[in-house]
Amino acid sequence: MTQKKAKLLIDQKEIELNVYSGTEGDEAIDISRLYEEHRLTTYDPSLANTAACRSSITYIDGEKGILRYRGIPIEQFNRPRPNFIEVAWMLIFGRLPQQSELLDFRNMLSEHELLHEGLRNQFQVLPAKAPPMAILSAMLSMMACYYEEFLTLTDEKSFMEVAARLISKVRTIAAFTHRRAQGLPFIYPDPNLRYCANFLHMMFSLPYRQFMVEPEVEDALNLVLILHADHEQNCSTSAVRIVGSAKANLFVSCSAGVNALWGPLHGGANVKVMEMLESIHRGGLKPEECIEKAKSKDNPFRLFGFGHRVYKNYDPRAKILKAACDRLFAKMQCNDPLLDIARKLEERALNDPYFVDRKLYPNVDFYSGILLRAIGIPTDMFTVMFAIGRLPGWIAQWKEQHDNPTTRIMRPRQIYEGNDICDYTEIEDR
Ligand code: SDX
Repeated sequence: MTQKKAKLLIDQKEIELNVYSGTEGDEAIDISRLYEEHRLTTYDPSLANTAACRSSITYIDGEKGILRYRGIPIEQFNRPRPNFIEVAWMLIFGRLPQQSELLDFRNMLSEHELLHEGLRNQFQVLPAKAPPMAILSAMLSMMACYYEEFLTLTDEKSFMEVAARLISKVRTIAAFTHRRAQGLPFIYPDPNLRYCANFLHMMFSLPYRQFMVEPEVEDALNLVLILHADHEQNCSTSAVRIVGSAKANLFVSCSAGVNALWGPLHGGANVKVMEMLESIHRGGLKPEECIEKAKSKDNPFRLFGFGHRVYKNYDPRAKILKAACDRLFAKMQCNDPLLDIARKLEERALNDPYFVDRKLYPNVDFYSGILLRAIGIPTDMFTVMFAIGRLPGWIAQWKEQHDNPTTRIMRPRQIYEGNDICDYTEIEDR
């Protein structure tokens, strides 16, 4: 097949560039040698239109609102099976697991659900009400202190081992963070429970009373984690890849992902959405005021949970989460006034030219908080839940980069606009 070319004409000089295409026909111009051969750099602030890697994990078509994990449409995960651990295995190892492989992985998760006592003791010195994302980031980095045998990963077996440790322990870290903030004793994991049920057990059981996990609540949490599991080269995943490209270990790379995810423009938006909805509910803000504030250029306020760098259509995850809220409330025979407020806000925005013209639709964060609240998760843990869901994606993306022999350290260039060459001036002479 002949190599497709693009031509760049600059100062009467014609430069030929290779054009590569992906599985779905998306095309990219290869500018990687433009500097070496022509001393030319491309300019793409925030990397909004730069393919930083080739990947086979997740496919998004932002115009059509399509999301697929390893080719499987996200809508096919909107049912009790497969569960989050099966999806995690598939994202990391590239195919659906055999029954025996899934069972082995589940057993490894059970084997590694406890924290090293040194890690557990860290909770005694951290402020009880420290931000949960700060604790999670610190704990993931500190895993490098306690599991030194995994600072270098050499084969699939070592990846299996470290993935099991991270995915299992992140749940324990999150639950212990919540318990410490509540002044409650830690509840240890129960290896007889499935992943989500075990987490809810550690979050809400008491020493004298086991928390009974309703199947519909377990299914809802399972779905939330699956929907957050990966999303190609988003901000936090790019942070994981950048740190990993320097051959830094997986623990600190995932910690970098947590730090990026914390931002209110990214995973932190799910907390901001709830604050926004609660403010409207308490009467502090009217829906129409909210919309107008979000449209005003004089106001930093944004309609959190709306808009997306890639989706210029309805985020398919938001559609699934919205329906899951209805399902869970129907089964629990309850309602949440915030869901009605969110619906009204969505309807107003989707009929307002400001949002329509800019193709701003609900994203994954708009309804996720309402479902997490119905499950019983406190608002300050919402972004941690996003991180628990996204962890398999970060591991999968890090592994894909690690296993690629052509990987080089990521080091973008710049356009320098600073001073011309000048001399140092002694302080007495300034
Ligand atoms: C996630 O990348 C991923 O895949 C992320 C994620 C994942 O799974 O990893 O999907 C998870 O992070 C979802 C996004 C969560 N963040 C929010 O909900 C915060 C609110 N949304 C925005 O801040 C914004 O939409 C972003 C950050 C999501 C996207 O920012 P962009 O692509 O840089 O878009 P922009 O800021 O350039 O906005 C374009 C225009 C601007 O107006 P104009 O200058 O053209 O007049 O749209 C406006 C913006 O002011 N705009 C909004 C808005 N989002 C964009 N105006 C009001 N409210 C909003 N929410």
